[in-house]
Amino acid sequence: MRVDGKQQRTIWLAEDGASVCVIDQVRLPHAFEILTLRNLDDAARAIRDMHVRGAPLIGVTAAYGVALAMAVGASNADLAQACSTLIATRPTAVNLAWALGDMRHHLLPLDPARRKAAAYQRAAAMAEEDVALCQAMGHFGLDLIRAAAGRKAGPVNILTHCNAGWLACVDWGTATAPIYAAHEAGIPVHVYVDETRPRNQGAALTAWELGRHGVPHTVVVDNVGGHLMQHGMVDMVIVGTDRTTASGDVCNKIGTYLKALAAKANGVPFYVAAPSPSIDFAIDDGCADIPIEQRGAEEVTHMSGLTDAGTIARIQVTPPGSPVMNFAFDVTPADLVTGLITERGVLAATKPALAAAFPERVMPEARVAARA
Ligand code: MRU
Repeated sequence: MRVDGKQQRTIWLAEDGASVCVIDQVRLPHAFEILTLRNLDDAARAIRDMHVRGAPLIGVTAAYGVALAMAVGASNADLAQACSTLIATRPTAVNLAWALGDMRHHLLPLDPARRKAAAYQRAAAMAEEDVALCQAMGHFGLDLIRAAAGRKAGPVNILTHCNAGWLACVDWGTATAPIYAAHEAGIPVHVYVDETRPRNQGAALTAWELGRHGVPHTVVVDNVGGHLMQHGMVDMVIVGTDRTTASGDVCNKIGTYLKALAAKANGVPFYVAAPSPSIDFAIDDGCADIPIEQRGAEEVTHMSGLTDAGTIARIQVTPPGSPVMNFAFDVTPADLVTGLITERGVLAATKPALAAAFPERVMPEARVAARA
C-alpha cells in the first residue's frame, strides 16, 4: 500500500540479503520507523512485544525467523529449537503454528546444507502468497460492498475492529482488502474505526493506514458501535480473525463478539475476512478449544500518546493498586457470522461450507483427536 506516495510492505528482506526489515508498529502512528531483525531472538521479540502483529504478519515473521535461525545452524535440533522459540511468542493466532508447520514441512526433508537458502526462499514465497490471499479476499469482498452501494445513496458505511489492515499482513490486509478494492473502484466507502482498547490498534494503526491511503474514515470509541447500528449508520461490519474453527467460530480481537451481538440485534451483516492460514481445521468449538492470550496489566492501567509539546508520554489511567484483567481476544460463535470472506469466495460460517471450499485441509477425526 502507499505511504506518502511510496509503495510499502510490512516486511521485506534487507539489502544485505540476510536481515529482515519490518515496520515498527509500536512506534506508529507518531513515528514511521523500520526495525531490522538480525537473528532468531530479534524475530521472537518482535512478535512477542508486538513490533509486528496481526495474524498473517505474525506467521510470515515467524517464517523469516526460522530462516534467520537456519543461517546460524541448520541441524534438525536447530530447526526444532527455532520453532519452539517462535511458537511460544503468542498463543492465539493459528497462523503462527501454520507457518512453522509449513517451514518444517519444507525444510526437514532437505540436507541441512540446503536449509538456509530454502528457508529464505520459502519465507519470501509465503509473503507473496499472503499478498495474493488478501487480493483474492478483496475481490470477493468487493462484490459485497458493490451490492450494498447499489441499495443506498451515499457512501457504504463499514465498521471494523482492531487492525486487520495491511499492517496486520504483508500488504492489502484481510478486512481492509475489500475496502481498498472498493475505494480503488470508485465506490464511495466510509469506515468507522473502533479504537480497540487497550492497545488501540484501531485508533493508532487502522486510522493511520486508511488515512495514508486516502480512505474516508472516522475513529470511534469501542462502545459506540451498538449506537451506530441502532441508528442505521452502519451498512456492514467487516473484521479479521486470528483463528476460525472448522465449524466457523471466529476468534478475533477482544470486543469483536460484542460487535457481532449488536450487528445481529440490528440486522447488520457481520462479515469476517478469513484467509485459509487463519482457519484451524483441527478444532470445532471456538470457546472451548482456542487459547486466549492474556497480556500484561500495564496495557490496561497505562496509555501512551503524543503530548501537545510533541513528545511521546505514558500516563496511568487507573488508580494505583486496582486489579486488572487483560484478555486479548474473544470468540464470536458461528451463528452470529453472516459470511466468511475467504480467498475461495464468501462462505457460510458452517462446517460443510468450509469443508467443501477447502477439502484438502479437512482433517480425519483421528488427527483432530491426536492434536487435541
Ligand atoms: O493483538 P493483535 O494486534 O495481533 O490482534 C490483531 C487482530 O486481532 C486482527 O484482527 C487479526 O489478527 C486479523 S489480522 C488480518
